[in-house]
Amino acid sequence: MNQQRKKFLKKLKKFWIKENIPNLSEVNAKFLAFLIDISWVKNVLEIGCANGYSTIWIADILEKKWWKLKTFDVSLPSFEDAKKNILAVWLEKIVDFNFGNFLDFDLWDEIFDFVFIDARKKYYLDFLLKIKKNTKPGSIIFIDDVMKFKSKMENLYEYIEWNQDDFEFFVLPVHDEEVLDWVMILRRK
Ligand SMILES: C[S@@+](CC[C@H](N)C(=O)[O-])C[C@H]1O[C@@H](n2cnc3c(N)ncnc32)[C@H](O)[C@@H]1O
Repeated sequence: MNQQRKKFLKKLKKFWIKENIPNLSEVNAKFLAFLIDISWVKNVLEIGCANGYSTIWIADILEKKWWKLKTFDVSLPSFEDAKKNILAVWLEKIVDFNFGNFLDFDLWDEIFDFVFIDARKKYYLDFLLKIKKNTKPGSIIFIDDVMKFKSKMENLYEYIEWNQDDFEFFVLPVHDEEVLDWVMILRRK
């Protein structure tokens, strides 16, 4: 990542701490970007971009390979901020922004090889079921905050326990000295 983007992300991080915007932690954003970088993915889907912090981390990796990111969010003004923030770091050609409830969109036959889910916790199972037809065997699904909000996503845990022929999954801690996040990584079979 170039210095200008690093500086911009630092500024954004300071702002989100002050404004209490629930962006990914830096260590988790780095892990997400690392996974995308080492995977054979071309078409990435993000559910919940907020002000675009995670979107910039993802798009920065995709830019090197001319890959694409489609992102969704339902809240203003953060959605408009995300578009401005992406423009400020020259990544607008990589990202296709969509405003509204992800569950109301038709993704037709578009196939994603990597999906990042970071939206309303109680709908995580609905998101997973919806994207099932838009992923393929080998597609990776990365889900944030699966421990802190576990009680809001019991149905997700239950579903994946019972559907291990469809998905294999791991729940992992991602941490540095300051933060501890738990993420779920699934692979479609
Ligand atoms: C935790 S924030 C996302 C943070 C962002 N991924 C980041 O790290 O920079 C969750 C976002 O999901 C959005 N959201 C919640 N439910 C949604 C839905 N059904 N469809 C689209 N966006 C949704 C919210 O508006 C909010 O901006």
